[in-house]
Amino acid sequence: MALYKCINAMLRNSKIPFSQVRTFRNTFSVTSNASLQKNDYGTGGSLSKAVFEKEQKYGAHNYNPLPVALSRGEGIYVWDVEGKKYFDYLSAYSSLNQGHCHPKILQTLVDQASTLTLTSRAFYSDVLGEYEQFITELFGYDKVLPMNTGVEACETACKLARRWAYDVKGIQPNQARIVFAGGNFWGRSLAAISSSTDSESYHGFGPYMPGFHVIPYDDTALLEKELQNPNTAAFMVEPIQGEAGVVVPHEGYLKKIRELCTKHNVLWIADEVQTGLGRTGKMLACDYEDVKPDLITLGKALSGGMYPVSAVLGNDEVILTIKPGQHGSTYGGNPLGCKVAITALKVLIEENLIENAAKLGEKTRSVLSKLPSNVVTEVRGKGLLNAIVIKNTEAFNAWKVCLRLRDNGLLAKPTHNDIIRFAPPLIITEQELDESLSIITDVINSYN
Ligand SMILES: Cc1ncc(COP(=O)(O)O)c(C=O)c1O
Repeated sequence: MALYKCINAMLRNSKIPFSQVRTFRNTFSVTSNASLQKNDYGTGGSLSKAVFEKEQKYGAHNYNPLPVALSRGEGIYVWDVEGKKYFDYLSAYSSLNQGHCHPKILQTLVDQASTLTLTSRAFYSDVLGEYEQFITELFGYDKVLPMNTGVEACETACKLARRWAYDVKGIQPNQARIVFAGGNFWGRSLAAISSSTDSESYHGFGPYMPGFHVIPYDDTALLEKELQNPNTAAFMVEPIQGEAGVVVPHEGYLKKIRELCTKHNVLWIADEVQTGLGRTGKMLACDYEDVKPDLITLGKALSGGMYPVSAVLGNDEVILTIKPGQHGSTYGGNPLGCKVAITALKVLIEENLIENAAKLGEKTRSVLSKLPSNVVTEVRGKGLLNAIVIKNTEAFNAWKVCLRLRDNGLLAKPTHNDIIRFAPPLIITEQELDESLSIITDVINSYN
C-alpha cells in the first residue's frame, strides 16, 4: 500500500478533530458584493491598465488573460495592483493546492535558497536522494525521474515507454506506438500538440510526432483494439480531463484500462499533473478505482506553486531502461525544487487537504447543481476540481460570466468557450467556501 494511504488511514482513525489537524488557515474575508456590478470589461484602474499594456507591448501574445493584474497572494486570496481582493478559484490550474505563499513551503524555499539551489546532475547533492526516497515511498513506486514542468514529465513518460517497448517488450526499432485519449492536454511542446485533438493547439505547427494515435476518451472497446496492436507501447490518459473541461469518465474506466493494459503488455501512463495531489479528493484520482498505473506524471502542486517541479514515478523495469546520457534536464532534481516538493507533499497530508477537498467538493457540486438551468446546463467534477457549462447566448457566455465574477471578487477562467472550472486552493474552509459559492450563485442568478 502506498505510504500516503497508510498516513490517511492513521489520521482517519486518530480521532483528531478536523480543525486541529489542519494548521494553516488564513483569516481574511472578502466582502461579498450584495449588488452585482454590471461592468463587464476591465477593472478600470490606471495601475491595472499599465500592467495590461506592458505585457501587450513587450510579451508574446500567446495567452488571453482575464483582465486582472495581480500583485499579491496569500492562502486562498489574491490582490490586484489596486488593492482589490479576490478568491482565487483557479489556483494556477491546480498548482496552488496548498494555497498562495504557504508559510511552511515558503520557509523551506528560503532556507534551501540560501544553502544550495542548483548543482546540475553533473554532481550529487545531499537533497536529491532524500526527495527520491520520500516521494517513491509515499506513492509506492521503485523510482522517480525528476523534471521541472508538467509537459516535460509527460514527454519523459513517453520516452520511457518507447525505450521500454524496444528493450523489454521487444518491439522492432522505430515501430513503437503510443495511444492517447481525445481531448487530452499535456502541454504545448511539439510532442504534446502531436497528440492533441484541439486544432487551436496543433494547427499550423506540423509536421507532427509519428507513432502517436488518438482514440476517444472513456471508450474501452476502441482502447482494446489499439492495445491488441503488438507495436503499442503505452496508453497515456488523464483520470479526469482537466483542460478539456473537467470531463469525468464513467465509473470503471480506470479499472478497465488497468485490466486491458496488463492483458496486452502495454504500459499505462496516468497523467496526474492536474488531478493528482489531492485536487480530486484523493491523493491521486486513480485512487478512486484503487488502481496503480505503470507510470504516473506529477507536477503543478508538487511544489505548491513555488517553483516548477515535476516527476515521473514508476518501477525499475521501466525507469531503469533509460541510461546516463539518454535523458535529463539541468534543473531537474535540483536541491531547491526537491526540498520544496517534500514540504509541499507533507503539507497536503499534515493539513488533511485531501479530505477537505473531498468534503467541500461534495458541497460545491450540491450548491452548483441548484443554479438555474437556463444559464448553467451542466455541473461536473470530483473533489475541488469542478466545472459548470454555461449556455452561450447574446447576453452571457463563459467569458462574460468570468468578468462578472471578477467584478464581484472571485477569479475563474473559461476553458473552451462554454466551460468555467472552479478549483480553489484545497485549504479553503467551509465558511470561505460558502462565501465564495454565494458570489457564484449571485452572479449566475443575475443572468436569470
Ligand atoms: C493534465 C496535464 N498534464 C500536463 C500539463 C502540462 O503542465 P505544464 O504546464 O506544467 O507543462 C497540464 C497543464 O495544464 C495538464 O493539465
